[in-house]
Amino acid sequence: MSLLRITPSAHSSVSSRLLRLSIFLLLSLPNSKGKAIWTAYLNITFQVGNRIISELGESGVFGNHSPLKRVSGVVVLPEGWNQNACNPMTNFSKPEQTDSWLALIERGGCTFTHKINVAAEKGADGVIIYNYPGMGNRAFPMSHQGTKNVVAVMIGNLKGIELLYLIQKGVYVTIIIEVGRIHAPCLNHYVTSLFTFLTATVTSLLLCCACRPRAHNSSTRRQRQIKAEVKKAIGELQLQVLKEGDKELDPNEDSCVVCFDIYKPQDVIRILTCKHFFHKACIDPWLLAHSTCPMCKCDILKT
Ligand SMILES: *[C@@H]1O[C@H](CO)[C@@H](O)[C@H](O)[C@H]1NC(C)=O
Ligand SMILES: *[C@@H]1O[C@H](CO)[C@@H](O)[C@H](O)[C@H]1NC(C)=O
Repeated sequence: MSLLRITPSAHSSVSSRLLRLSIFLLLSLPNSKGKAIWTAYLNITFQVGNRIISELGESGVFGNHSPLKRVSGVVVLPEGWNQNACNPMTNFSKPEQTDSWLALIERGGCTFTHKINVAAEKGADGVIIYNYPGMGNRAFPMSHQGTKNVVAVMIGNLKGIELLYLIQKGVYVTIIIEVGRIHAPCLNHYVTSLFTFLTATVTSLLLCCACRPRAHNSSTRRQRQIKAEVKKAIGELQLQVLKEGDKELDPNEDSCVVCFDIYKPQDVIRILTCKHFFHKACIDPWLLAHSTCPMCKCDILKT
């Protein structure tokens, strides 16, 4: 509500207060808005024919409760008719003599925590969860409170399905998960909207104080202009000094409607374009203020 009572002189101090508030919010945000986001580099290696193919991409996002560390191993699918690893008895079809392995699990069916723990129970060194179909290659930091010391990353659906098909065809796929870069998309988003809001507020404040005096100025300028036009119009109206015998002195005629005095010889009258007449001393101030005839409202500027 106090914003509504801003006076022009208070604008600059309000702007600086807003600026200070926004800086305060920015500084306090990273703590209040939670964790930063860490991407994961996935070095995917597999063999096609005689060729070893290896691709490296920043295609994963570490889970919020995952340790940030490098982990590698052969990629293993859950056994059974689905890939969600929600069944606590889920087995993983890992090859013989595997030291370290990573579970590739689809999102959905149960919580991230649940499926990560199912894989960890079976000895997985890391869990890669791929997003829902239709999400392209989008991934986000999962929340999986209560998982043990197991690395968990999310990858996009397309990448996940690609790996799934390779492994289902019997291709031996290994992945090295490396800690990528720190990002703060949520923060950025928040900051962007905050800045948009603040910019809009400050801009409207500035526009407000820039426009108000100008509007005020232009309205007074216009009033002065009108006053000058009225003065000019008054000056062009006919004046007459009354003398004996003038019909205006007829006792049956009206008195001056402004001062209610009857007209006497030597009185100076002003005759308007509508033919109504009044004492000059009476009608001139009235016309300056109203610019219309007090009798018939005819506008002296329009005639
Ligand atoms: C990916 O991993 C393979 C096998 O460990 C390795 O030979 C290759 O250099 C790695 N690629 C990159 C870009 O790190
Ligand atoms: C996993 O393997 C064990 C032992 O072979 C078996 O008893 C269990 O039913 C399997 N779990 C599922 C979900 O098939």
